[in-house]
Amino acid sequence: MNIFCDEVLRMEKKYFIKTFGCQMNVYDSHRMAKLLEEMGLKETIDQNDADVVVFNTCHIREKAAEKVFSDLGRAYLIKQERELLGKDTIIGVTGCVVQAEDKEIMKRAPYVDFALGPLRYFRLKEVVQSIFDKRDAKLLDTEFSAVSKFDYLPENKSEGGCSYLAIQEGCNNFCTYCVVPYTRGVEVSRPIEEVLREARRLVETGSLELNLLGQNVNSYHGEDKNGKERNLAYLLNKIAEIDGLERIRYTTSYPADVDDDLIDCHRNLKKLMPYLHLPIQSGSNDVLKRMNRRHTKDEYLRVVDRLKEANPDIGMSSDFIVGFPGESDKDFQDTLDVVNRVKYIQAFSFKYSRRPGTPASIMDNQIEEKIKKERLQVLQDLLFDYQLKFNKQSVGKVMPVLFETKGRHNGQLTGRTPYMQNLYAKADKNLINKIVSVKVTGASTNSLKGEVI
Ligand code: SAH
Ligand code: SF4
Ligand code: F3S
Repeated sequence: MNIFCDEVLRMEKKYFIKTFGCQMNVYDSHRMAKLLEEMGLKETIDQNDADVVVFNTCHIREKAAEKVFSDLGRAYLIKQERELLGKDTIIGVTGCVVQAEDKEIMKRAPYVDFALGPLRYFRLKEVVQSIFDKRDAKLLDTEFSAVSKFDYLPENKSEGGCSYLAIQEGCNNFCTYCVVPYTRGVEVSRPIEEVLREARRLVETGSLELNLLGQNVNSYHGEDKNGKERNLAYLLNKIAEIDGLERIRYTTSYPADVDDDLIDCHRNLKKLMPYLHLPIQSGSNDVLKRMNRRHTKDEYLRVVDRLKEANPDIGMSSDFIVGFPGESDKDFQDTLDVVNRVKYIQAFSFKYSRRPGTPASIMDNQIEEKIKKERLQVLQDLLFDYQLKFNKQSVGKVMPVLFETKGRHNGQLTGRTPYMQNLYAKADKNLINKIVSVKVTGASTNSLKGEVI
C-alpha cells in the first residue's frame, strides 16, 4: 500500500462527482467512482466535505457547457474556505467540455488541478495520487489515444437492478450541428467477449436490466473471438442468453443503421424491452439534408412501421431540434407531422444551439431566439399530449416494474415500466432492485402511480 492510501485510511478522504449530459457520462462517472474507491476514498453528496471534486461535463449545447464554469467558480470558493481550515481540495474536470475546450478551462479556471478527456479518465488514480503527493501541480490530458480505456479499467460491478454498459463509443456521422464526433472521437466498438464478460459480471452482482450504450449504438461492429465483426443483433442475442438477466435496452440508435437483424430482435427476443429511442431530429427533408442526416422523413417512418410490424407493442421515443438554420414554417410543420404519425410515448426536444467549430454554426439564416422558443413550445405541447395519452392508457393495467430507488414520500418506491415510464408506488424498501407486478392507478405526463399486487 502506498503512502497516499495509508493517509486516506487515517483521514477518511472523500470524493464528490457531479455528472452532466448523457448516459455515457453517467456510465463513465460510475467507473470513475470505482477508481477513487479503490484508492480508499468514500463518496459524499456534500461538496463542502469533499477532498476530490470531479465535474464530468457535457458540451452538447451552450447552456450545458457554460454551467460547468459557474460550478467551477463555486468549487473554487469552497476550496478557499477549506484551505482556511487546513484542508486541501483537488478539483478535476472530465468529459466532453475538456475535449472541446481544454486550453479554455485552464485559462478561465486556473485553479483546476486536472482535466482528463472522456477517453483518458482511466488515468484518474495515477493523476489524483500524483497531485496529492505534490509531484504534479497541474495535469491536462485530452489525447485521442489508440489504446482503449476499457483495457485499463478494473472489472465493472453492478450498483443496482439496472446498469448501463458502454459497448461502443464515438461517432462517425458528423451531423452538422453536433460536437460528439469531436469530443468522443471516431466510432470504436468493444469486442464481443469483453462486453459479454462485463454483462455477466453485472448480472452476477445484481443487475436485472442492462442498457447497452453507444453514441451510435446500432452501428456496433465488435469483433468476436475469431476476429469476425458482429453486429448489434448478434450481441443482443448473446446477451439475452445470460441467466438471471430479465431486461435489455440499447441506446442511442441511428435510423439509417437499423438493419433487418435488429428488427428481428424486436420480433423474437422477449428480454428486449418494447421501447426504442430513435431520434429523427427534424421531419423536413431539406433540414435533414443540411443536418447531414443519412435518412429522409419517409425512410424514418418506414423503419418505425417495420419495428411496429415486428412488435406491435413497441413505444417510440425521439430527439428533436427546432430552429436549425434555415428552418421554415413549412419545415417545422413537417416535424409536427412526424409526431402525429409516430405518436411518441416519450421525447426530448431542444432549441438549436450554435456550437463552435461545427458546420451548422456558420450556416446562413440562423433562426431568431423568439421563433425557436415559440416552435419549441408548440412541439412540446404536442409531444406531451401524446405522452399523457399513452400514460393514461396504462391506467388499470398490471405491469412489471423494476423498482430502483426510494420515492419522494415516506414508504414509496419509484421504478420503471417496460416502456421506461416512471412509476411510483407504496412498497417496502426490500423491493428495491426487484421486478414486481404493479397495477397502475393513476397517470400524469411524467409519471404513473400504482399499487403493488
Ligand atoms: N447520438 C445520439 C445523441 C446525440 S446528443 C443521436 O444521434 O441521436 C443528444 C441530442 O442532443 C441529439 O439527438 C440532438 O437532438 C441534441 N443536440 C445535439 N447537438 C445539438 C445542438 N447543437 N443544438 C441543440 N440540440 C442538439
Ligand atoms: Fe451527434 Fe449525429 Fe453522431 Fe448523434 S449521430 S452523436 S447527433 S453526430
Ligand atoms: Fe454531452 Fe458528451 Fe454525452 S457532449 S451528450 S456528454 S457524448
